[in-house]
Amino acid sequence: MNNDLVAQLREINQRLGYIPRAEIEKLAREMRVPAAKVLGVATFYSLFSVKPRGKHVVRFCEDAPCHVAGGQAVYDAIRTTLQLEPGQTSADGKWTFEVTSCLGICGVGPVMMVDDEVYGNVTPERVVEILTADR
Ligand code: FES
Repeated sequence: MNNDLVAQLREINQRLGYIPRAEIEKLAREMRVPAAKVLGVATFYSLFSVKPRGKHVVRFCEDAPCHVAGGQAVYDAIRTTLQLEPGQTSADGKWTFEVTSCLGICGVGPVMMVDDEVYGNVTPERVVEILTADR
């Protein structure tokens, strides 16, 4: 049942960019489980959000292996380029910046993601290229 629930939450998150409260309650009714359980699963996975996010979500891995590979400079470049702090969404609704724990590809750190796309061996210069590309 949890796999079904995760799949449904993934679909909602992809379709709407986040999982609104009304969708959590609807899903709970359909699956005949408490809304608190659905909310618990929705908030457990960092790739899901229960708050509105920008059109594009930039995630930066802040764990130690990426940090020692030059992550601080990459982190600063993301903040400067987007003019956002982690957890913030741009006023035009285009970008949300989030930090995340290990994405499982520490060998190519520093690592960042834009939506579902993963970038490894990122440099501050590469951040600018990635974030100023047409989307
Ligand atoms: S520590 Fe960054 S991907 Fe593992």
